[in-house]
Amino acid sequence: MDPSTPQTRDTWGSKATFVMAAAGSAIGLGNIWGFPTQAGQNGGAAFLVLYLIFVALIGAPVMLAELMIGRNTLKNPVGAFKQLAPGKSWYVVGGLGVFTGIVILSFYTVIAGWTLAYIIKAATGAFRAAIDADAAASIFQSVSASPGPAIAWHAVFIVITVAVVLGGIKGGIERCTKLLMPILFALLVLLAVRAVTLPGAGTGLEFYLKPDFSAVTPTVVLSAVGQAFFSLSLGMGALITYGSYLSKKQDLVSSAGWVTGFDTLIAMLAGLIIFPTMFSTGFDASIEGPGMVFVVLPSLLASIPPEPYGGLIFGTGFFILLAIAALTSSIS
Ligand code: ALA
Repeated sequence: MDPSTPQTRDTWGSKATFVMAAAGSAIGLGNIWGFPTQAGQNGGAAFLVLYLIFVALIGAPVMLAELMIGRNTLKNPVGAFKQLAPGKSWYVVGGLGVFTGIVILSFYTVIAGWTLAYIIKAATGAFRAAIDADAAASIFQSVSASPGPAIAWHAVFIVITVAVVLGGIKGGIERCTKLLMPILFALLVLLAVRAVTLPGAGTGLEFYLKPDFSAVTPTVVLSAVGQAFFSLSLGMGALITYGSYLSKKQDLVSSAGWVTGFDTLIAMLAGLIIFPTMFSTGFDASIEGPGMVFVVLPSLLASIPPEPYGGLIFGTGFFILLAIAALTSSIS
């Protein structure tokens, strides 16, 4: 668009709506699937400490910068840099963000497809009775290693994403996040309480909360920075775009603070759920790969009383909310 064009743009309904929508972008598989997987592979508590430092020192300021760029230019990431630095090549940075978003979306929607498959598994009783590590692993295999269903669920998730985006920011994103994010939070708190009271949960808590910095390597540091960027939806153009719908009246610092805070809280809760469950059920935190969370969670869900309804109700509810959290990220 020509920079001289009068700049008008739809805006978020209110500050709370914007914070929920941006938190919807940030909170997703990165928190509940990515964070525990990364923490498990990178030393547990030491990774958590580094992650928190990077979120505070790099993530929050970068989020603020992206929102400011969006709000001041009222443009998409490429247009924003063109306007800020006319005639220079800085727009490539915006283009790189958009490209990054596309690359992330390509694998994100595959994993989101697994969450849809898990809704059906949970609703049809797969997590009703106590489940051991082998049974949980074979459920995950059946979902992720069968190309037909995996591609079909992936396609379903993409179609839902496109449909919501076509609904526009007011119709689609606002409606999705306002009600469901608080419910997801409440369910995670409940699961965390269940997880930390499992027999043998103490070892998992120690792994997650008692840092051993001797295990920190450059790879661990890099993984922590990468996870902070991924989880906060930074460097992918999303928050520049969301910022471009912000009204000039809105306090950016506190908005960025709330979004960063919510996102970090959800990731920390996910760790509090996964590690105690993992050690209580005999999994090894460092060897499980991308399937870790999908293998560990069913045994926790199946342990929720009263059997057999706990696993059925909480399992179905949890995966519906996880799919929606993934959706509010994929939309962004
Ligand atoms: N920020 C998004 C997430 O954590 C990509 O899932």
